[in-house]
Amino acid sequence: MSAAREPIAVIGTGYVGLVTAAGFAELGSEVWCVDIDAEKIERLERGEVPIYEPGLEELLERNRERLHFSTGLADALDHARLLFVAVGTPPTYSGDADLSAVHAVVDAIPASDRHALVMKSTVPCGTGASLQRVLRERGREGLQYVSCPEFLKEGSAVKDFLHPDRVVVGDDGGWAGDAVVELYAPLQAPLVRTDVASAEMVKLASNAFLATKISFINEIANVCEETGADVVEVARGMGLDDRIGSKFLQAGIGFGGSCFPKDVDALKQLAGNSGYHFQLLNSVIQVNDLQKRRVIGKLQRHLGPLAGRRVALLGLAFKPNTDDMREASSLVLAARLQADGAQISAYDPVAEEQARTLMGGIEFAEEPLAALRDADAAVLVTEWQQFLELDWDEVAKTMRGTLIVDGRNALDADAVRAAGLAYEGIGRR
Ligand SMILES: NC(=O)c1ccc[n+]([C@@H]2O[C@H](COP(=O)([O-])OP(=O)(O)OC[C@H]3O[C@@H](n4cnc5c(N)ncnc54)[C@H](O)[C@@H]3O)[C@@H](O)[C@H]2O)c1
Repeated sequence: MSAAREPIAVIGTGYVGLVTAAGFAELGSEVWCVDIDAEKIERLERGEVPIYEPGLEELLERNRERLHFSTGLADALDHARLLFVAVGTPPTYSGDADLSAVHAVVDAIPASDRHALVMKSTVPCGTGASLQRVLRERGREGLQYVSCPEFLKEGSAVKDFLHPDRVVVGDDGGWAGDAVVELYAPLQAPLVRTDVASAEMVKLASNAFLATKISFINEIANVCEETGADVVEVARGMGLDDRIGSKFLQAGIGFGGSCFPKDVDALKQLAGNSGYHFQLLNSVIQVNDLQKRRVIGKLQRHLGPLAGRRVALLGLAFKPNTDDMREASSLVLAARLQADGAQISAYDPVAEEQARTLMGGIEFAEEPLAALRDADAAVLVTEWQQFLELDWDEVAKTMRGTLIVDGRNALDADAVRAAGLAYEGIGRR
């Protein structure tokens, strides 16, 4: 890679910031990483990786010399013109995005004709315009603004950074947009160079569309349960149509994670605040909420009242290959089961530490079979590979009851049944 790559700063070293920093370091940039979380910065300086993300540790290690970590902005401002912002934008109680961390960053950057904010955080459409207005009002219009939304997926974030489907750069045509395009050029991804508002909307609309696809197939699954069709077969038949595609057509217990729920909500609120009632997204959210509860119905149908019953949760993270528990379906399921008086045992290969801070009254097991011991039923919540490879004869011997609810339609139903267990998928025959 070229040695004379543009140095950059990355503000916020979470899932997006850390991967972005490591990725651009891999492409040859010196990267100044800034985070207000002093403990996180200390760990990163020691060479520890605070999150679980496949391939990230190796990428950071390989590029250690190009990566600099600090809780202050001074070095970043000295060395870099492009300030990538990757701070969190969690939902507020109203469903709008909480932009306080973004504002804190903007407030901390002094007047400058040399720097540009490059927004990686997912923000509502119109945020760039309103931040630019604020900067103008404060006499800091020299600071350029570029929207560069991020599309990486936790669990495959490193690969997604290095092989993106597309790069979206929204700006007003100044030097900073060109510099961002230049930075991404070695990845040879299709480029969408557009205005700030459209770039912001590409991100929100993409996530809302994917969430809609999930809720759609979940509703098809629910109709399949009433009509005797099998949603896995239906999705296969649909997905082979190029216009539809097979991705995001896996029926299950609904979407979670740090992005889909909040981004769908944020787009719905944004539309509402602008005077438009986004009918479709209301349904997408509602279907997703109800989908998690359908698992409870399946358990009740087989076990009767759940009070005193022992239910094993296989997987806790919102999806495999991450330790991220934000908006994980397991949180809703566990809370519902506890409200019904059930006992819960659970196993997740990497999310236990995060889960322990969010879930009380649960027995965390060291391995899957320990979670399954004496369980009346088990629910596959996160389709980690190791659950797909379970020895179902062993499982049958370990459990007290026989019910396996496959919340992700990921298990081999025949193998489960061959072990004498009862298999219940989502929308499956
Ligand atoms: N996680 C994903 O899969 C993903 C994908 C695409 C886009 N996004 C978006 O990217 C943004 C970041 O998401 P994330 O998952 O990386 O969040 P995260 O919570 O993992 O990381 C955010 C980091 O920002 C730091 N921070 C907060 N305020 C700060 C400040 N004022 N100065 C410096 N650092 C600060 C926090 O300490 C934290 O380390 C969000 O807007 C999210 O919607 C996330």
